[in-house]
Amino acid sequence: MSTAAAAGEPDSHATAIAAERRWAWVVIAIMALLVAMMIFTGLHWSAMPPSRVETVDVKTLHLKGEFVESNLGTSVGADGKVTVRLIAQQYSFQPQCIVVPAGVPVTFRGTSTDTIHGFVVGRTNANTMLIPAFVSTFTTTFPKPGEQLMPCHEYCGTGHEAMWARVQVLPAEEFMAKAKPGERLSCVPR
Ligand code: CUA
Repeated sequence: MSTAAAAGEPDSHATAIAAERRWAWVVIAIMALLVAMMIFTGLHWSAMPPSRVETVDVKTLHLKGEFVESNLGTSVGADGKVTVRLIAQQYSFQPQCIVVPAGVPVTFRGTSTDTIHGFVVGRTNANTMLIPAFVSTFTTTFPKPGEQLMPCHEYCGTGHEAMWARVQVLPAEEFMAKAKPGERLSCVPR
């Protein structure tokens, strides 16, 4: 450094150019990385459902299998596992009001009958897309009782902003007292 400074103008000029060039390569590398990430996420994530790949036939969804109307809502299995089954359609969720216990893992299983929908539950990490022909699955625990809003968060058409449901998180004892084997729980939206 001190020799370059002592030698005067030409050397410090060369040093500046070398530094500029190094920074240019750093910037090019960052831009290349960002473009590669955009291409990867665009091709990979948008084409894939957010959970493991499980398919369902949209044409027979209402008629048979897991997502018939009588099977929607919250159920408690023989093993005590809590499962919420729901479907999304333009422009509502079925059921419109979902009951879950606090402090207990709850598994959501959902799909869509028409176009891509999604939902997020209040300020929790419950957040997924619902894609026709795919079953979206995730498990989460609601820490405390209370009522949460559950809006659709994928633009699905002109009624999108009016598409939402409610989630009632009950104290675990209250929930378990209501839950009967083989029955589906839901609530009346206020
Ligand atoms: Cu359904 Cu937006």
